[in-house]
Amino acid sequence: MRTIIGNWKMQLTIAEATQLAKDVAAALPKRLPDVRVAVCPSYAALSPVKDALGGSPVVLGAQDLCHEEKGAYTGEVSGRELADLGVKLVIIGHSERRSHVHEDDALIRAKVQRAFKNKMIPVLCVGETRDERDKGLRDVVVERQVRAALEGLDLPARGELVVAYEPVWVIGSGTAVDPEDAARSHYIIRETLRDSFSPETADRRCRVIYGGSVDKNNVGAFLARPVIDGVLVGGASLSAPEFTAIVEAARAADAKGAGRG
Ligand code: 13P
Repeated sequence: MRTIIGNWKMQLTIAEATQLAKDVAAALPKRLPDVRVAVCPSYAALSPVKDALGGSPVVLGAQDLCHEEKGAYTGEVSGRELADLGVKLVIIGHSERRSHVHEDDALIRAKVQRAFKNKMIPVLCVGETRDERDKGLRDVVVERQVRAALEGLDLPARGELVVAYEPVWVIGSGTAVDPEDAARSHYIIRETLRDSFSPETADRRCRVIYGGSVDKNNVGAFLARPVIDGVLVGGASLSAPEFTAIVEAARAADAKGAGRG
C-alpha cells in the first residue's frame, strides 16, 4: 500500500484550507483500502480541516510538533494536543525547518521520540543540499541524517515510521530528480533502517517515500519503482484535482503490483 501525503506548508488561509479539504474528500472514493492518504495543514487549520474531511479516509497530519511533552514552551504545540485533535502523522525535520529555524539532529531525534510517545507516525524528512550533492556527499548525508534521528530509539509496539527523501535543491523547483536517482537514495535509506532496527522490522513497519516537485505527470515514474513507497507532495497538493490525480496514480501503480505490501 502506498502512502501519499500533502504538505500544505503555510500557503493557505483557514477558509482556503477548509475548502481544499472538502474538495479532496469529495473527489476521492469513500473508502481507500489500497492507499494511505494524508494532508498536513498548518496548526491553525487542523481542527477545521478535520471537520471538513468528515468521514473521508483521508488522514490528518501535522507539519511539526514540540520535542517536549508539556511545559513553558511559548508558541509550541505538543504531541498530546495534536493527538487530541486526531492527528495521526507528523512531519519532522523538514528541510525548511532545518534551514529556517536551525533544527538540528538532536532536536529532530527528540521530536521523533515524542511523536512515537503520542502514538503518531513520524514522517522524518532527510535530503542533501545542492552543495552537498555537488561534492558527492548525497549518500553520506542521507545516511547520517537517518541514523542521527533514530539513534537509540526503538519502534514502539505497532509503531510505524515514514522517512521522506526530499533532496533540498529540487523542493519547489518544478523539476524533480530522476526517479532512478531517487531510487538510489531510497535504497540507502532502507538499508540504514534495516541496520538501525532489524531487517524484518524495517521492512514491515517503515516506509520510504519521495518528495520534491512531485506532480501528476511524474508521480507514476516514481511509484513504478518498488523501493519508493509513496510521495510527499508540496505545491501539487494545493490543488484538489492535481492531488487526487496523484492518489489515483498510486492506486494504479499498486494495481500493477509495484511496491511493498
Ligand atoms: P514541492 O512538491 O512543492 O517541491 O514541495 C515538496 C515538499 O517540501 C514536501 O514536503
